Amino acid sequence: MQDQPSRPDTTRIAFTLNGKPASAATAPFVSLAETLRGELGLTGTKIGCDTSQCGSCTVLLDGVSTKSCTTLAVQADGAAVTTIEGLADGGQLTALQEAFWSKHGLQCGFCTPGMVFAANEILRTHPNPTPEQIRHGLEGNMCRCTGYQNIVRAVQAAAADPRLSLAGGQR
Ligand code: FES
Ligand code: FES
Repeated sequence: MQDQPSRPDTTRIAFTLNGKPASAATAPFVSLAETLRGELGLTGTKIGCDTSQCGSCTVLLDGVSTKSCTTLAVQADGAAVTTIEGLADGGQLTALQEAFWSKHGLQCGFCTPGMVFAANEILRTHPNPTPEQIRHGLEGNMCRCTGYQNIVRAVQAAAADPRLSLAGGQR
């Protein structure tokens, strides 16, 4: 019988997760999405395609919108990660999350955590985005339910909301 290849040692990473210190045991081949959902139990980050196409796994890594399915967990060592669980404060939705709710920018909700971070990124770079800029910004995120129109409306509504405060701050 052929020998099985030995697995690389587990390694421990330490980083800031939703504003608090966190650590996780992982391995060099494990994605950030798997580590967030598995060991850390933050299942708001969704894995759809696992190949960087659908955007459902999007989180902020050092303030930058990042697809966590194709980011290795070890790349987050020493960094700051924000997941969807880190946005609402004490159960109070952010203005951007509220806009998705009020404009019916979601149905099943699977794509929504990633959409919220994609929208956050659009608004960081375009405070008053046109519908075309919003659609362009959403190109890396797929939704099988909404037809996108209400997501565009949600981003427009968030842009017009004076309470809007963006994760990662304005660029
Ligand atoms: S699961 Fe990461 S882009 Fe689809
Ligand atoms: S709301 Fe269902 S995939 Fe977008």
